[in-house]
Amino acid sequence: MTRILKCHDIVKTDFVRADNCYLYDSTGRRYVDFESGIWSTALGHGHPRVQQAIRAQMEKVSHLGTRYPSALAEEAVADVLEIVGFGDGKGVFLSSGSEAVEFAVLAARRTTGKPLCLTFSSSYLAAYGSAGGKRAEEWFALDWNVCAGGDACAGGDVERCLSGIPFERIGAFVFEPGGSGSGFVRFPPGDLVEAIARRIKREQGLIVANEVTTGMGRTGKWFGFQHYDIQPDVVALGKGLGNGYPVSAVVMRSDVAERLEAGDFHYAQSHQNDPLGCAVAKEVIATLRDGDWIGIGNAVGAGFLAGLRQLEAKHTLVKEARGRGMLLGLELHPSDRLSVQSAYLQLLERGYLVGCYPAGHVLRFDPALTIDREDIDHLLESLDRILEDAEQQG
Ligand SMILES: Cc1ncc(COP(=O)(O)O)c(C=O)c1O
Repeated sequence: MTRILKCHDIVKTDFVRADNCYLYDSTGRRYVDFESGIWSTALGHGHPRVQQAIRAQMEKVSHLGTRYPSALAEEAVADVLEIVGFGDGKGVFLSSGSEAVEFAVLAARRTTGKPLCLTFSSSYLAAYGSAGGKRAEEWFALDWNVCAGGDACAGGDVERCLSGIPFERIGAFVFEPGGSGSGFVRFPPGDLVEAIARRIKREQGLIVANEVTTGMGRTGKWFGFQHYDIQPDVVALGKGLGNGYPVSAVVMRSDVAERLEAGDFHYAQSHQNDPLGCAVAKEVIATLRDGDWIGIGNAVGAGFLAGLRQLEAKHTLVKEARGRGMLLGLELHPSDRLSVQSAYLQLLERGYLVGCYPAGHVLRFDPALTIDREDIDHLLESLDRILEDAEQQG
């Protein structure tokens, strides 16, 4: 009997140690973590530089009152602004991705005075709050698959797609570039995203990029929005920013910050700009830069995708392999011979943790940028065998 409240499926309860992409259970058995926790440990579990930064900062001061942000917070905001490309903007460190997105939405509503936000219906934004609920009074959710019938948006009929959107009432487009929260790894089409961004700007609205999952190199660039020709005004970060430590951030352009501060904006939460989280974020950014991990992750991810595409070409059970950088998915055809749940459990048995999304028949892979190519090759071999066995049964 477990005393852990069941908020999720619980599959295994005895991981006791982690090192880079490896998790070890209480018997000493090694597993390869192709999910990076929940898409968070971009530099691998327990990266020595991040561990050292935590230890060093713990010795000094880990938490301060909100009236006393430290020089470290100032430096860490400057680092985030630089990688996002906001130069003289402003930002704040918070605790979770949900909190960062919710804060960004609040900020956008305050500065534009318009209560309605636009997002894609497949985007996951937050666990709670306005962004979590996406209620119709506050959100216009666009399904880019069916918004103008069939594959209109994906097929390029962008104007028809835009025609039903009440842009004059929308203050912000909250864009999640991975289409990833729903787990399906379906990237929103560029021409649609760019057309929406132009219309939003024309109506003096803001573009909020939710980079909680797609940020910090996950998609082969620093940020997922960089795959599109758009200029966000506000960016929310989490997950990879802390490499497993719970720190998130919201940064915004200087004009947005000015408008927000002029409106006497207050936000009460105990862990804002905590020195410990700031030290972690600073070290993660420096480590990603120094090791060129985003370039490396992009190259290794391209090889991984090529391997998944080979499985697609070889196996009739595979519908599609897709991905960007180290955010990859393998969609199976619905079949009695092999469900994604069964593939997931067989991979677990062989020592691999992967994402399992039955609703979309998708297996998902988000390993650390630091993963060894050999571990990817071995996973691909295991997948090949699992698919082959299932196909032979048929
Ligand atoms: C795209 C996206 N946005 C926001 C969140 C929320 O982040 P958190 O779980 O840290 O609150 C998630 C979490 O999976 C996410 O995938």
